[in-house]
Amino acid sequence: MDNDIERILYSRDDIAKAAKRLGKQLTNDFQDKRPIIISVLKGAILFTVDVIKEMDVYAEIDFIDVASYHGGTQSSGEIDLVRDIGSDIAGRNILIIEDIIDTGRTLKYLIDLLKSRNAAEIKVCTLLDKEEGRLIDVKADYVGFSVPNEFVVGYGLDYQELYRNLPYVGVLKPSVYTN
Ligand code: XMP
Ligand code: MG
Repeated sequence: MDNDIERILYSRDDIAKAAKRLGKQLTNDFQDKRPIIISVLKGAILFTVDVIKEMDVYAEIDFIDVASYHGGTQSSGEIDLVRDIGSDIAGRNILIIEDIIDTGRTLKYLIDLLKSRNAAEIKVCTLLDKEEGRLIDVKADYVGFSVPNEFVVGYGLDYQELYRNLPYVGVLKPSVYTN
């Protein structure tokens, strides 16, 4: 897989440091909140595992799966709810963990969904924030890295469902797309 990567943006070590930094902040901010942490499948799985280990708070964990990409590198604009959470979130403090915020459509969809179910508070932690891609005005409260407007893979992020298990985030060689 390493041969398909043009350059590494965030190394294993960079990511570990970011997870530690965010975990400290989240420990502080969620101390008495007993949050339900909602990890967004599939991209956020690696980041979720690393961040929650750095959070010394009582928290429940749940998962939601939404899809906006259909295999390519461009968002389709439509969001499908693939798998819903199992928790009752009414009156609860929620922390969404995302892999990347690009246009903001996915996050807006999630926030609207959780608000409609009467969540008390919704905060967002994302590994990557692609601010230049934003089409909808949504913001993350906790950000690992601000990422340039390029398609990135690794550490949970995929191209056609591959590369999620790379331990770092990088940019694919153009030849990979044209194969
Ligand atoms: P939106 O546009 O809804 O996008 O903010 C969020 C979702 O789109 C996917 N996404 C990417 N996936 N590399 C990826 O592997 C990227 O550079 C990228 N940009 C957006 C991702 O699934 C995210 O949850
Ligand atoms: Mg994807």
